[in-house]
Amino acid sequence: MRKVLVTGAAGLLGRSLVDRLKDRYSVLAVDIASNPFGQSENIEYYNADLTNFEKYGPRLEKFKPEFIFNCAAYTDVDGCERNHDLADALNVDLLEELLTISRGKIVQFSSDYVFDGKNGPYAETDRVNPICYYGITKLKSEYILQNSAGKYLVIRSNVLYGTASNVRPNFVTWLIDSLRGGQKLKIVTDQYNNPIHVSNLAEAAVEAVECDISGTLHIGGSEYLSRYDLALKTAEYFHLDTSLITPVSTAELGQTADRPLKNGLKIDKAERLLKTRFLGIDDGLRLMGNY
Ligand SMILES: NC(=O)c1ccc[n+]([C@@H]2O[C@H](COP(=O)([O-])OP(=O)(O)OC[C@H]3O[C@@H](n4cnc5c(N)ncnc54)[C@H](OP(=O)(O)O)[C@@H]3O)[C@@H](O)[C@H]2O)c1
Repeated sequence: MRKVLVTGAAGLLGRSLVDRLKDRYSVLAVDIASNPFGQSENIEYYNADLTNFEKYGPRLEKFKPEFIFNCAAYTDVDGCERNHDLADALNVDLLEELLTISRGKIVQFSSDYVFDGKNGPYAETDRVNPICYYGITKLKSEYILQNSAGKYLVIRSNVLYGTASNVRPNFVTWLIDSLRGGQKLKIVTDQYNNPIHVSNLAEAAVEAVECDISGTLHIGGSEYLSRYDLALKTAEYFHLDTSLITPVSTAELGQTADRPLKNGLKIDKAERLLKTRFLGIDDGLRLMGNY
């Protein structure tokens, strides 16, 4: 059986990738969190802190994976602004270390935060200019791969949502949980993206690897909208009280890290190269079932 290593395997995207890969590949799934998969024939789960690569690297190297999907990351955008060391360790150094053991292709997940959000959505060839530390680390990871001799695919995505037990809340699950708890929320009207359901991203990522696509590829949902409109659509879909949602501007909200505003990703290249179809919000929310 062909071998795949998935880092950050217990996270939102890692989980969806492992579920998709496990019937056709032998998977080494690595994460600092405990095993969410239970006993499964083709999944070997390895509980490890990947900031200590000296200790854990040899086990990964011995596995000799054909593909590495690197999903382990420090994804807290404001946290990255406060803790550059951890952001560098997980979002940059880990990739550099994985490159030393890679004999096949590395798939790195990057973000629309490599752009400044002045005139998105952006194509793969548009000029990068990150405005917060999370975006800077993601861009550094892209440069590591571009300057390496190894085979790679950088998948830039944006605003993942979906469900899985014991993962960090994403925007959509946080919104649903908060509104169910009767909490009033301030949601920004001026941050734009094209959110994607995690299983739609996992499907496209696996297809891209199996078609041997290399370089940089943008993968996002088919609908471009503001966080406020995403919040309203989600609340309406789940029959929640939209009057708890107040529109605000990013300047009024005062988040720690600067946010790219008119951001998001053009997905024409992915639509041309892949059979996977990219979903709009209603179809993505439908995949969340009875969340
Ligand atoms: N989420 C988005 O909207 C979004 C958008 C664009 C790109 N991306 C990129 O897509 C990738 C996957 O994102 P995601 O949303 O699936 O992230 P996630 O749910 O936060 O998953 C990351 C996983 O990595 C684990 N991890 C953290 N520190 C680790 C360590 N030291 N050693 C081993 N594992 C560690 C996390 O465990 P803990 O949770 O226990 O820390 C978590 O299970 C990331 O590269 C992210 O930057 C995400």
